[in-house]
Amino acid sequence: MKKIIQEGDKILREKAVSVDNFDTPELKEIVKDMFEALNKEDDGVALAAPQISISKRIFIVSPKIIDAGDEYTVFINPTIIKQSNDRKKMEEGCLSVRWKYGKTRRSSRVTISAQNIKGEDFLMEGSGLLAQIFQHEIDHLDGILFIDHAIDIEDLPPHE
Ligand code: CO
Repeated sequence: MKKIIQEGDKILREKAVSVDNFDTPELKEIVKDMFEALNKEDDGVALAAPQISISKRIFIVSPKIIDAGDEYTVFINPTIIKQSNDRKKMEEGCLSVRWKYGKTRRSSRVTISAQNIKGEDFLMEGSGLLAQIFQHEIDHLDGILFIDHAIDIEDLPPHE
């Protein structure tokens, strides 16, 4: 089982590298490890590969957010191709920055292009929480954490 690494680990600060081999056992293994790691976190909605120490441009989003049956949606080599100038203040946290929460300003609508596990291109538009997730996860791939730009950061560990 792959552990979700925490702020302070250098891997979280690296610029992750693009994936250029698709449909390989290695890529399937990485994605499976990401599913398992995210599935363990009750409050988790998305995860980027660097969070399990794999510095590659991959993130996944939970079916709690993108309705795809029981499946997580996989985004490989994602890029933002369009984003609204309109930005909203959002509450934000991160599975790699336990247990801090703060407020960030995020574009309220974002369109990204990405590839799926077979290497096929697709576009997805998100607004609100999904737009926030797209921006947060792509930041991870560039070594950026929400605490780098959040305000009103609070430490809120869960109650026992
Ligand atoms: Co995060």
